[in-house]
Amino acid sequence: MKEKVIVFGGSGMLSTSLVPLLEEKYEVHVFDRNACDVSDAEKVDSIISETQPKWVFNCAAYTKVDDCETNVEHAFNVNREGPRNIAEAVSRVKGAKMVHISTDFVFDGSKKEPYTETDEVSPQSVYGKSKEEGEQAVWSVLPQRSLIVRTAWVFGVGGGNFVETMLSLAEKHPELKVVDDQVGRPTYTKDLAQALLHLIDVNAMGWVHFANEGVCSWNGFTRGIFEIAGIDIPVNKVTSAEFVRPAKRPSYSVLDTTRYTKLTGQTIRPWQEAIKDYLEERTKIKV
Ligand SMILES: NC(=O)c1ccc[n+]([C@@H]2O[C@H](COP(=O)([O-])OP(=O)(O)OC[C@H]3O[C@@H](n4cnc5c(N)ncnc54)[C@H](OP(=O)(O)O)[C@@H]3O)[C@@H](O)[C@H]2O)c1
Repeated sequence: MKEKVIVFGGSGMLSTSLVPLLEEKYEVHVFDRNACDVSDAEKVDSIISETQPKWVFNCAAYTKVDDCETNVEHAFNVNREGPRNIAEAVSRVKGAKMVHISTDFVFDGSKKEPYTETDEVSPQSVYGKSKEEGEQAVWSVLPQRSLIVRTAWVFGVGGGNFVETMLSLAEKHPELKVVDDQVGRPTYTKDLAQALLHLIDVNAMGWVHFANEGVCSWNGFTRGIFEIAGIDIPVNKVTSAEFVRPAKRPSYSVLDTTRYTKLTGQTIRPWQEAIKDYLEERTKIKV
């Protein structure tokens, strides 16, 4: 008999890649926001206690980074209380474990070399703070029974993302301006989903960073996407000061993925390869 797995946030970008992979090996119970709002502790508890899963994946989050600045209570309800509710319900199921997803935005970006799992967090936005408190909530309820995977700059089918935004802007404008003073590591949901499976296969616990190989600015990322997509328009460099947004972003949020590689023995492919794959995948979905 297959072991049972629950996925919350079942209609987002990550879950769109994760669920089919999990289904190859597990009996998967998927709940989107309509089926279960993770801030509803009673509902979360009844699903988890009835299903008696081996693993519970929390892919649910309020990911609209700028909107979090004004919808503060909602951000903390979804990004902190949601994971806490799941962790508490998991703690009541013997042997069950939780996988929670977090973000590079827990860091302030003042470091000049890649962030490791033990680096001090110092979120600069409501989103980052709510996610950081979500991590703490999970670990305080489920020490040694939870895996907290921080990722960054996520793209994939099943949701709006930076790649889609840039491809769409390129259709409407003869040239673009994209910030060049925020640096990070793009991540493809398919690679992240596969990484989560590798991590649970080795029973990894605690904090792990995962992102595709390669460091770039948003401007460099855009140029790379356009080169691969065969789009030839100027991508001009601007600073964050010229492109002010409600939420402050870290200027440097490169994640160090050494722990992931050590734990799983897996290498990680460069984001450029992942972009090629993504461009093919999105075309198949659109036809
Ligand atoms: N996207 C990024 O660039 C990025 C970067 C770093 C880390 N992450 C983290 O990666 C994880 C997966 O995010 P993603 O990229 O797949 O984002 P996503 O596409 O926005 O998926 C998040 C999902 O959570 C659902 N959700 C929102 N509020 C909920 C609630 N109260 N109860 C249940 N479900 C709820 C959303 O449903 P609706 O669409 O119906 O609201 C959506 O399906 C999140 O933990 C996120 O913080 C993302």
